Amino acid sequence: MDHHSQAGQPAKLILDGNTFELPVVVGSEGEKGIDISKLRGQTNYVTLDHGFGNTSNCESAITFLDGDAGILRYRGYPIEQLAENTSFLEVAHLLIYGELPTAEQLSHLSERFTEHSMLHEDMKRFFNGFPSSAHPMAVLASMVCSLSAFHPGIDMTNPTGEDFDRIAAQLMSKVRTIVAFAHKKSIGEPFIYPRGDMEYVPNLLNMMFSSPTKEYKIYDEVVQAMKVLFILHADHEQNCSTSTVRLVGSARTNLFASVSAGICALWGPLHGGANEEVIHMLEMIQKDGGGIDKYIDMAKDKTKNFRLMGVGHRVYKSYDPRAKIIKQCVHDLLGKLGIDDPLLDIAIKLEERVLKDPYFVERNLYPNVDFYSGLIYKAIGIPKDMFTVMFAIGRMPGWIAHWKEMMEVPGGTKIGRPRQIYVGPTKRDYIPIIKRGLV
Ligand code: SDX
Repeated sequence: MDHHSQAGQPAKLILDGNTFELPVVVGSEGEKGIDISKLRGQTNYVTLDHGFGNTSNCESAITFLDGDAGILRYRGYPIEQLAENTSFLEVAHLLIYGELPTAEQLSHLSERFTEHSMLHEDMKRFFNGFPSSAHPMAVLASMVCSLSAFHPGIDMTNPTGEDFDRIAAQLMSKVRTIVAFAHKKSIGEPFIYPRGDMEYVPNLLNMMFSSPTKEYKIYDEVVQAMKVLFILHADHEQNCSTSTVRLVGSARTNLFASVSAGICALWGPLHGGANEEVIHMLEMIQKDGGGIDKYIDMAKDKTKNFRLMGVGHRVYKSYDPRAKIIKQCVHDLLGKLGIDDPLLDIAIKLEERVLKDPYFVERNLYPNVDFYSGLIYKAIGIPKDMFTVMFAIGRMPGWIAHWKEMMEVPGGTKIGRPRQIYVGPTKRDYIPIIKRGLV
């Protein structure tokens, strides 16, 4: 399938009395962009776009989202259908290789994951160096980068050649083991090794929660909830962490190091770290008597430097379609597990207010993917500081898919190197130290 934009009617730009024509590209869903690749050469102007809210960094065939209509599709498949009918491995194959796998392809992928689920025994010793209080995102970022030391990287002259399948499977499979070992280290329990007879999610849960004295009972509804969360987090086009993976990879950096940079970007509380912050916020409200008025007022008062975590989004100006599915998942799981979590009641009260308060409505602020996800992790018994590493496990196929897509750009991708508008001091001469501070 041709994954290229079509040419639209060129744009005209009038600058200093001159008229310039700029090409317009039109994507497969009708999105239009002005191609400014030659702007500086033609006009000696650059553009300025704080936060890149109006700037596309690539043409991509992986994920389409429409923030106004609340649409999210992976390679054309609606997220609602994938969450309902597929496994995380199937979605990983779809994102990375472009198509849902055949039964044979899925079985080969599963075998590769089993083959690569263990960590090199020397890597195990790294965990001894971390304090038990280490944030799991710090552990994950450093261990993923360290994988490049233990597993020969991709031949970067042929980055998506035969090495790629192995490296991608190593990354997706080993992150579970790293996350589980980080959890065991934090609670002082012995590591539980991955098993060859367990699928992706049960293997992770078993490594996290089993111990030599206690067999962890794996409930289907818990596996199903985790599978849906991983699928919903699997990709989200050019978000902060995926753009980071692309930028780092554009220097022809290996996949492990590029993804490690993405993990660091995801850690931020404005990005993936929000799922952990939502629970902190709900617990704070609960401790304060459960009333939400004070917190709604604080979120609206710019002097308070307080935001409702899990609310708002750079692209979605309507209800995040993922949040809708996750909210239903929370009700289903807590119902099946017989859990009555007062934090859910507070979250629902917050959502009801956000959906009708003019401050939020006027700014198109809605619950996003992080608003309810933490309540599922909490119900499963995953510690709060592990929530963002769960997001990272889910996002792994998306990061890998974008790195691969970038490496496959015909003629090779250009190194990412944005320009700037300099606003610092103009030319001035050196002043010897003996004369400084005298005027
Ligand atoms: C993720 O990009 C992705 O796709 C990310 C992600 C993915 O899958 O990869 O979807 C995952 O990161 C979801 C977002 C998780 N972050 C949070 O929940 C943190 C809380 N949300 C915000 O900080 C904020 O909404 C952002 C960071 C998500 C979006 O910020 P923008 O697009 O830069 O919007 P903005 O900061 O310019 O806000 C616009 C207005 C401002 O008010 P005014 O200046 O117009 O008066 O909305 C206000 C903001 O103050 N605002 C909020 C708010 N979010 C925005 N006010 C109160 N509470 C909030 N949460």
